[in-house]
Parts: sequence; C-alpha cells; structure tokens
Amino acid sequence: MLFPQGVAIDGATGAVSPATGRYVKKLSALRDLYASPALVDAFIAEHGDVNAYEVIEYRPEGSDICFGTTIMAPGMIGDEYFLTRGHYHAKKDRGETYYTQSGEGLLLLHSRDGEARVVEMRPGICAFIPPEWAHRSVNTGTTPLVFVWMCTIDAGHDYGEVATRGMRQRAVEQDGRPTVVDNPNYAT
Ligand code: F6R
Ligand code: ZN
Repeated sequence: MLFPQGVAIDGATGAVSPATGRYVKKLSALRDLYASPALVDAFIAEHGDVNAYEVIEYRPEGSDICFGTTIMAPGMIGDEYFLTRGHYHAKKDRGETYYTQSGEGLLLLHSRDGEARVVEMRPGICAFIPPEWAHRSVNTGTTPLVFVWMCTIDAGHDYGEVATRGMRQRAVEQDGRPTVVDNPNYAT
C-alpha cells in the first residue's frame, strides 16, 4: 500500500530527502553531444572529468507519478553551455514539468514534426513539456541550475534519437549573452 509522504527538496542544492535513487553524469559521458568533442577533451585535460549533472529521484514503487531534481554544474565547452543528454519519453503520450528552483538556464525542445521551442529556466518558471517533445536543459549561468522535474513513473526515456540526430538547436554564448542557434549538424 502506498502512503503519503512529505519530501524535503532543497532549492539551492537540489538535495531530496528521502530519495529513492540518484546518478551522476560525468562530462566525459556527454562528449559526443557537444558541437566540439575535441574541446571536451581539452576541458577535461585542464579541469578533470567534472560532474556535469546529478539527478536525484523520488520514485515510490507502485506509484503512478514520480519527481526529483536535476542539479547542473555551470560551465562551457568553447561557446556552448553545459547540457543534459536530452531525450524523448519512451511512452509517447507522457509529458513532464520542470520547475526551476535556482540558477538560470534554457530548456531546448523540439517536436517530432519539426517544431522547435525554447523555455527560459529561472526560479518561478515551471516549464510544461508536452508529450512527443524532445527536451534538453542547459545551464547558462555561473551557479548550479537546480530544477524539480515531475512525470509519470512509466514515462521512460528514449535517448537514442537525440544521441544520433542531435537537437535542432544549440545554446551558445554570443556577445556575452545566451543565444539559441540552429544546429547545422542536426540530422533531418
Ligand atoms: C525525466 C527528465 C529529467 C532528466 C534529467 C537529466 O524525464 O526529463 O529527470 O532525465 O534532467 O537529463 P537526461 O535524462 O536528458 O540526461
Ligand atoms: Zn524527460
């Protein structure tokens, strides 16, 4: 039987208590997602294989919904901001919300039928991610980007398509400001 529970979420650190799971993504694991993998190698040679982001989950067994936090380190590879892998949900009718707690970033999205959108990530903004939209977050600030995500427990992840085709857009710094540009390497 499921019982109600209050879960503490620290909006500054992203700590979740109690949590049911967590994982860390090292920068090296994301190498091929950047416009310049060679610059990832150079970054790692200089700074080490840093933790690019961490995901902490509250996923109660037998529940229909789950939530958790993503904590993204600030950083840049050349002019491109630190990013998450990006994915569609495995179940095609499952959406999600991202509610930013601290830091600043951009949520890059594209639909299977060719639309692309960007939603600002900053405290107070809860992003709605409809089903069938690939989503990737980027940290455009100088502090950790912390957001609470919530979706159905069976949404699942389909990483393959974004890994092979890329996202339609990239978030880069231009003239000192976050700018979203078309990804010339997006495989249509
Ligand atoms: C779950 C979700 C987030 C991401 C997390 C890391 O559906 O969207 O919990 O999984 O922000 O991003 P990915 O999974 O793209 O590496
Ligand atoms: Zn998702």
